[in-house]
Amino acid sequence: MKRILKPARKIGGTIRLPGDKSIAHRAALFSILSKGPITIRNFPDSADCHRSLKAAEALGVQVDRHDSELLLTPPERLNVDAATVIDCGNSGTTARLLSGILAGSSVEVTLTGDESLSKRPMKRVIDPLESMGAEIFADNNCLPLRICGRQLSSLEYRLPVASAQVKSALLLAGLASSCSVVIREDIITRDHTEIMLQQLGEGLAVRNIKAVAVIDPNDPRKRRMERPEPFKREITLDRKATVNGGLVDIPGDISTAVFFWGAAAISGRSLTTEHVGLNPTRTAMIDHLRAIGCSVQIDNRAVVSGEPRADVTVAGAPLKPRKISGDTTVGLIDEIPMAAVMAAFASGTTIIRDATELRVKESDRLVAISENLKKMGIKCGLLEDGLAIEGGKELNGVDFESFGDHRVAMAFSIAAMFLYGPSSIDDDEVVAVSCPNFYELLDQIRV
Ligand code: S3P
Repeated sequence: MKRILKPARKIGGTIRLPGDKSIAHRAALFSILSKGPITIRNFPDSADCHRSLKAAEALGVQVDRHDSELLLTPPERLNVDAATVIDCGNSGTTARLLSGILAGSSVEVTLTGDESLSKRPMKRVIDPLESMGAEIFADNNCLPLRICGRQLSSLEYRLPVASAQVKSALLLAGLASSCSVVIREDIITRDHTEIMLQQLGEGLAVRNIKAVAVIDPNDPRKRRMERPEPFKREITLDRKATVNGGLVDIPGDISTAVFFWGAAAISGRSLTTEHVGLNPTRTAMIDHLRAIGCSVQIDNRAVVSGEPRADVTVAGAPLKPRKISGDTTVGLIDEIPMAAVMAAFASGTTIIRDATELRVKESDRLVAISENLKKMGIKCGLLEDGLAIEGGKELNGVDFESFGDHRVAMAFSIAAMFLYGPSSIDDDEVVAVSCPNFYELLDQIRV
């Protein structure tokens, strides 16, 4: 439904976000392969995570609710009808991680998705799974996928795209099929699968390849830092690896917190988000906020279920532009829509490069962002792999378009708070994909 968005020049307060989407997907999907029950605390009520929960149920996992906890009890063995269809909705994480599980299990299942998900690339998981011996049928390497699970063989794989979903799909395939998997990453991606496996089971090792000082062959007086291997991290899953079960307590979703941090940054005011997950592979936005002039305070640090969390207070300031590229872009992959909106309120030109992956998210996010920024009257160059955003003007309210993408809708709903006069967003329901109570939280931070 179309929603009218009113300006709010002052914001503040303390809020809690729904549980982290990436961790929730993994907790739900791990239950399919677990030997014992998994208890989940703070499972988010988001549409995407429910897709993973429903998928687990379709494969025989029993889901019981006890107050705010979920108890997932795995079946004795996976046993489903060959006509089983699992609808992954809008959720790329469900589709890709589940592909790995199914490819290595003795079941036949068809995965489908909504219009957006049916256009997203699945070749990145199909290719390495097929090299393990998987039997997957797909037209144009897109959903629907028919997966005929079977015994797979071991895999050594250097990720050609920095993708935690691909990495996780392959590790889960190895786990399902009891075969060893070695993954090498040139850019370190979110490591929730690795942490959860180490917390709930055994048989996974992570080796970081550290740079060491070597003598420069051209000038023996000089030393330079070099990595002994061309990649940064190696993850090894043993063929005897297992998930035994246990408790997963999910922290607040940092990728949702960033929208509220963005509101603080633009308004020049201060806002606190409690119990936010601060896994180092996800905290690039904190560095970004500091780089563009904001202050970020972190209190009450703790590690729960292997994942760091803390209360984060962001205080805004006049915003500066920044060049975002390489590893930083990967670290900010889900945060670029909000970074782009902040860039519109910064004095100067923000450049975002190495972001072609944004073209295959829930929408072509480069197009969605640039179209909405242009509606605001911002000069925005659409590059092959990024954006050039010239910020710093006083802007009037406009009719924004979500492009069916939850993060685009949330980012521009924040922008609307700092425009003159009312704005609107065409489809406010799309935020339910990751944060169904987004607009209630937005009302809470208006002071
Ligand atoms: C996710 C990984 C990222 C991210 C997505 C969630 C995950 O996707 O954009 O929102 O939970 O593993 P890619 O693996 O495609 O980069």
